[in-house]
Amino acid sequence: MISLSLIGIGTGNPEHVTLAAVRALNEADLILLPRKGEAKSDLIDLRRLLCRDLLEASSRTRVVEFDLPCRDARADYLGAVDDWHDAIAEVWADLMATHLPEGGRVGMLIWGDPSLYDSSLRIAERLGDKGQALEIRVEPGITSLQALTAAHCIPLNALAEPVLITTGRRLRERGWPSDAESVAVMLDSGGAFQALPQEGLTVWWGAYLGMDKQCLIDGPLVDVAATILERRAALRERHGWIMDVYLLRRM
Ligand SMILES: C[S@@+](CC[C@H](N)C(=O)[O-])C[C@H]1O[C@@H](n2cnc3c(N)ncnc32)[C@H](O)[C@@H]1O
Repeated sequence: MISLSLIGIGTGNPEHVTLAAVRALNEADLILLPRKGEAKSDLIDLRRLLCRDLLEASSRTRVVEFDLPCRDARADYLGAVDDWHDAIAEVWADLMATHLPEGGRVGMLIWGDPSLYDSSLRIAERLGDKGQALEIRVEPGITSLQALTAAHCIPLNALAEPVLITTGRRLRERGWPSDAESVAVMLDSGGAFQALPQEGLTVWWGAYLGMDKQCLIDGPLVDVAATILERRAALRERHGWIMDVYLLRRM
């Protein structure tokens, strides 16, 4: 039997890791750390740092790194993601069979929280399909949306109003969701807000939230859109990668 803990670690600030996450790390027999290529080495560096700093000397946890399979860049996006998840599940299953042939507790450090635009729960379900006896646990983490609203000191929702969370791809394809007052945008490859009429919208933007290189911009979208695009491009150039998220609100 494999007991798999998906442990939310927040979005880059080691101080955001919860006590429950620390306990789960120390209870694991095996922690699997994905390498995502040189350009995103900051992401594995943070996970290595957490393991180094948070695993107690008495802990018998083994830490094993692996190369994350790459997603096919073909046009059929959902089909490519489906195949990619299969490939990742295959790698996880092999690692668990190799390092824990008798079963045991596996921990995975999940960026932010496993419930928000993260596929680890969907991938874990595929392990069950491979005949592996599996128990899944989740330790919640601080999401990039919470890091964004905290950094700007704003509420996520306007008074008594809902918030819609979407992706840059979807915003670009479908425009402003009807009836929405507040829209949070994640996974934007850059400037999806350019597809919107910008008048009347306020934006709160954040990149590398929680990290030393955190960058924030806010204001009426018509005034700050160009600055966000320029700053984003410059930061991406400087660091080799970028993660950003933003909240748009009709004002
Ligand atoms: C694959 S999703 C993972 C989200 C994560 N599970 C969470 O709870 O926030 C990656 C997206 O989250 C957002 N994100 C994650 N970490 C971030 C950070 N430190 N700063 C800004 N945006 C971040 C970006 O929109 C990025 O494209």
